[in-house]
Amino acid sequence: MNKTTISPDEIRQAVRDRYGKIADTTGTEKSTGCGCGSGGCCGGDASVTQLDQVSRLYQDPDVLSLPEEVTALSLGCGDPVAVAALQPGQTVLDLGSGGGIDCFLAAAKVGLEGRVIGVDMTPSMLEKARANQKWVGAENVEFRLGEIEHLPVQDGSVDVIISNCVINLSPDKPQVFREAFRALRPGGKLAVSDIVTDGDLPAAVKNNMAAWAGCVAGAWDVKDYVAAIEAAGFVDVTVEATYWDQRMIDEAIGQLEPEVQAQMQQTEQPSLDPQKAVYSARVTAWKPA
Ligand SMILES: C[S@@+](CC[C@H](N)C(=O)[O-])C[C@H]1O[C@@H](n2cnc3c(N)ncnc32)[C@H](O)[C@@H]1O
Repeated sequence: MNKTTISPDEIRQAVRDRYGKIADTTGTEKSTGCGCGSGGCCGGDASVTQLDQVSRLYQDPDVLSLPEEVTALSLGCGDPVAVAALQPGQTVLDLGSGGGIDCFLAAAKVGLEGRVIGVDMTPSMLEKARANQKWVGAENVEFRLGEIEHLPVQDGSVDVIISNCVINLSPDKPQVFREAFRALRPGGKLAVSDIVTDGDLPAAVKNNMAAWAGCVAGAWDVKDYVAAIEAAGFVDVTVEATYWDQRMIDEAIGQLEPEVQAQMQQTEQPSLDPQKAVYSARVTAWKPA
C-alpha cells in the first residue's frame, strides 16, 4: 500500500482547518464554491441546489423537513442512518458528526427513549451542530468534542455507530475501528458511508494535503479497509458500492494541483483511473454478541 509521508498531526490540522472554515462560512456568501461546503463531501456543485444535493444522498423523506441551516452543512457521501436500520430506544454514536444532519435523522428514529451522541474534533463545527440542535429541537442529541481515534464514550455503551464520509479523513483508520469496537456493546452494529478506492492511489495523491482534506488522498483500498475492520474484531463485514456522482468526482479531482491530477492520469493500473477508482460505499459490520 502507498503510504503518505504527511504526519498524522499535519493531517488532523489540515482537516480541522478545512472543516472549521466550512463551518465558519456556511450560511454566509463566502461559503459558496468552497470545496466540501455546499452539499456532499468535496462535491459542491453550483448548478445543483442544496436540496437536490441532499436528496441525492438521502432516501429518507425526513431529510426534507430539516431546517436549511442543517442541510447546508451536509458534507457526507451517503445515508448511514438508512444503512443502520435504527430501532426506538437505541443509543447511537456518530463519528465526525459535522453540522449534525445524521444525528438529527437518527434522533427521530430512536425516539426520546433513545439517544444520539455526535463526536467531532472541529470546535466551530461543534458550535454549528449545537446551534442546529436548537433549530431542530432534538432533545435526545448531545455533541461532544473529540477525535474518533480516541472516542469520548465508555466501553460497550453504544448500540449502533454511524459515520458519514469521515473515516477516510483519519490518519489512523485501524485505531478508529478499534475504538468503535470498544465503544459498541456486544452485538452492536457499525454502519458507515465512506470513500474507498478500487486499488491504491498514486503516492503523489496520498502526499497531497488538499487531497486529504478533500476526501480523496486518505481513501483506502476497499480490501485494506475491510481488513482493518476485521482486525479490530468485527465480523460479517459487508460493502456495497454506491458510486459517486460523476460531477462530484470531477469536483474533487478538480481541487487537486495540476501536477497531482497529471499523476493520477499516468497511473499504470487501469482500475486506478480516479473516475472509476474512488467511490462511496456503504459498509456494515458487527461486534460479536
Ligand atoms: C466531510 S465532513 C462530514 C460531516 C458529517 N458527517 C456529514 O455527513 O455532514 C467531516 C467531519 O469530520 C470531522 N473529522 C474529521 N476527522 C476527524 C477525526 N479524526 N476526529 C473527529 N472528527 C473528525 C470534521 O471536523 C468534519 O466535521
